[in-house]
Amino acid sequence: MKITTKTQVVEKGKADFLVISLFFSKGKMEKPFPVLSKKIKNLIDQKIKELNFKGEKAGESLVVENTATDKRRFKYILILSLGEKKDFDLEKARRAAGACLQTAKKYHAKTIATPLFGEEKAKEYNPGSIAQAMTEGFILADYEFNKYKKKTNQPTKIKEITIYCQNKEYLPASKQGINKGKLFSHAQIIARDLVNEPPQYMHPRALAEFAKKLAEKDNITAKILDKQQITKLEMGAFLAVDQGSDQDPFFIHLTYKPQQKPTAKIVLIGKSITFDSGGLSLKPSDAMSNMKMDMAGGAAVLGVFFALKRLKINAEIHGLLPACENMPSGKAIKVGDVVKAADGTSIEVANTDAEGRLTLADALIYAQKIKPDIIIDLATLTGAAIVALGDDIAALMDNDQTLENKLMQASQMSGERIWPLPLPEEYKSHIKSKVADIKNIGKKGSAGTIAGGLFLQHFVKKAKWAHLDIAGPAWIEQPEISYLPIGGSGFGVRLLLNFLLNFSD
Ligand code: BES
Ligand code: ZN
Ligand code: ZN
Repeated sequence: MKITTKTQVVEKGKADFLVISLFFSKGKMEKPFPVLSKKIKNLIDQKIKELNFKGEKAGESLVVENTATDKRRFKYILILSLGEKKDFDLEKARRAAGACLQTAKKYHAKTIATPLFGEEKAKEYNPGSIAQAMTEGFILADYEFNKYKKKTNQPTKIKEITIYCQNKEYLPASKQGINKGKLFSHAQIIARDLVNEPPQYMHPRALAEFAKKLAEKDNITAKILDKQQITKLEMGAFLAVDQGSDQDPFFIHLTYKPQQKPTAKIVLIGKSITFDSGGLSLKPSDAMSNMKMDMAGGAAVLGVFFALKRLKINAEIHGLLPACENMPSGKAIKVGDVVKAADGTSIEVANTDAEGRLTLADALIYAQKIKPDIIIDLATLTGAAIVALGDDIAALMDNDQTLENKLMQASQMSGERIWPLPLPEEYKSHIKSKVADIKNIGKKGSAGTIAGGLFLQHFVKKAKWAHLDIAGPAWIEQPEISYLPIGGSGFGVRLLLNFLLNFSD
């Protein structure tokens, strides 16, 4: 799919679909911003009245046949609501673009001509940011994981989208925005593909090989530690999780170094359980059905690495993925086992399904040897995070307010929603063990997500650290947002890239 930009009145373009984006207030259309010919304006007025289109929600649309002008110029006109002018933001643009693409696809359109959404408000948001958000909406909505389907079932594809800026001055920003949007989306699609790949193929070795290939392209160094090296580092907690599986574990360590002197050292850790059966604390079938997604944190980190060089991020970035499976077997860890992390902490395994935190404990210990300024981990850690915040919002826990503020800002820009939870001192008693230094679960039915956060915090010494529990938004079960189709969402990639842009020139 090609996405380009031009400075011209959109009506002068040529495409299967002409998009007319409009603000609506109290069920009434506001004066259209792009200059429209009388003929098209009249057709729109007439259809809106006739079909009682109120455009109450951003992304709502109406498709009408172009009977107003030359049909060879436009087959259809898509009247697209951007909601109320005062509520417009980048996420509305992203969702409206996604909705627009889906509708055009239903009509087997190949080409779309669209104005820069909300161009009349572009100063407020920066035209580049709007073009970027639109590009993300288009590309991410177009995504389908069809690798294992017969070729005949492949959907029709949109070939070209042109974004028209009426204001000539906006063109350079629009171009840049489109390029950034493409990069962000492709990085996110890398994460989606990794998550969607069936678990028999996307095993720890495959993840390590993928990471190595990704690194080769961009002067990133890839250190892949095998079981022997992991054993030498005494990562007893990580190894314990792998113990029941026939697949070998791999500890993946990617390093990106910028051209100039880096302004910071940042470690990104991604939970990388390529399949979580629960182990001997076996999950019921329903809960296990999507557990190939338990490496979504690691997938997001790899997606981020794809974009670092291209975004000229001026920080040294390390990516750590402790990759293994969590399986039951005669060799698996048992409930009641006490295992030892690389820093000597003894951990009672009170539930083998709370495995992510065991792997992350050793990754956090390893991370601090790098002496980073900031550590951020992404993990599909607890079902309780879904109970607390639902499917759309990730839980954020951290030990530094400035880092938290920066992540919240990045969330606003990227549209990937996160919300802070506390790490109360008093709740540390929840993970106290009678036989070891700590145990891997908290109090039954009480603050499960926080217990996970407190467990991880136990291994963090000096570094500024943030933990993102992405159990909810990492996987889309029922698509509700136009640009988030079923399956792995690639959540976290746009968030982290926006965060890392703080460290670019
Ligand atoms: N991978 C799961 C968490 C999860 C659940 C992710 C649903 C995505 C959707 C994790 O390893 C797990 O099983 N956590 C347990 C922790 C419990 C045993 C303390 C859970 O949430 O039930
Ligand atoms: Zn689990
Ligand atoms: Zn898990």
